[in-house]
Amino acid sequence: MKRTLRLLAALTLLAFTGSAAAETSVGVFDLQAGRVMLNSGYTMPINGLGTYSLTGDVCFSSVSEALARGVRLIDTAYMYGNEEEVGRAVRESGVPREDVFVITKLYPSQYADAEAAIERALDALDLGYIDMLLLHHPGEGDVQAYKAMERAVAAGKVHSIGLSNWYVEELEDFLPQVTITPALVQNEIHPYYQERDVVPYIQNKGIVMQGWYPLGGRGHTAELLGDETILGIAAAHGKSAAQIILRWNLQRGVVVIPGSSNPAHIQENTELYDFALTDEEMDAIAALDRGEKHDWY
Ligand SMILES: NC(=O)c1ccc[n+]([C@@H]2O[C@H](COP(=O)([O-])OP(=O)(O)OC[C@H]3O[C@@H](n4cnc5c(N)ncnc54)[C@H](OP(=O)(O)O)[C@@H]3O)[C@@H](O)[C@H]2O)c1
Repeated sequence: MKRTLRLLAALTLLAFTGSAAAETSVGVFDLQAGRVMLNSGYTMPINGLGTYSLTGDVCFSSVSEALARGVRLIDTAYMYGNEEEVGRAVRESGVPREDVFVITKLYPSQYADAEAAIERALDALDLGYIDMLLLHHPGEGDVQAYKAMERAVAAGKVHSIGLSNWYVEELEDFLPQVTITPALVQNEIHPYYQERDVVPYIQNKGIVMQGWYPLGGRGHTAELLGDETILGIAAAHGKSAAQIILRWNLQRGVVVIPGSSNPAHIQENTELYDFALTDEEMDAIAALDRGEKHDWY
């Protein structure tokens, strides 16, 4: 009911604000506010911090640094083994809970008893509710697990739900079997692997796209951040290669969650809103696509 009201409010806003409509339309990035309206009726920041491979104190301090620097979107997962640290960093940050957007994920090993897995995630994060819950990969029992997430939405335990590592074929098969259209799909996306067919397919369904490994992923960042084309564009704007890549994503409607434990990098990765890439620069980065995945899924 609450969700329906929120959706109605968003649609009403759309109907009455005329030219402001673009800023409140589902899936359209507001590059001033740094947020996007989801099909669930909630808004989400469009840049955040990824926490894959950050564990224990490193995770806690990275999330704390990010929150202190204005980052309001944090991506974690059961598989990362750091939900407790993420939750504690949010609770101890002094930032109001409702200002922070936390994404976590259920792993395929949990799909057989997704209800218990959702309760476990709620306990581990200890933030009252989960802003966004994703299925981490396609796998046995994924439809049933998603239905458990739909029930958690109805119960108010989870606000929005979505998928990760679902591509066109998987979505064609999956979507007719579920009730709530995913609010988000999180897939590998960087200049060497751009998913130029998958991204518009997903966006045209009113689903927001989020990219993992935005900087190529650990072990691959040197080549991407040293790419001559990207460095040339960076020099023209007085920005870093990382900022150019992140901004390129934002301008094509892809939410970014770069991972970092370095406060200077975390800060740099927030400074994405005081410049814009030209169409020519967007095209030059588009031309770098080589369909090169940096992980198997
Ligand atoms: N759904 C999935 O299946 C899936 C899979 C993989 C990842 N993810 C999510 O996506 C997030 C991002 O991926 P990732 O963290 O693995 O890779 P990434 O963001 O592409 O790259 C992280 C690497 O970039 C470096 N870095 C970050 N900011 C930088 C900057 N401004 N300048 C130079 N280097 C910089 C980091 O080093 P420093 O620590 O030194 O800054 C780290 O080595 C993950 O954390 C996770 O939340 C999801």
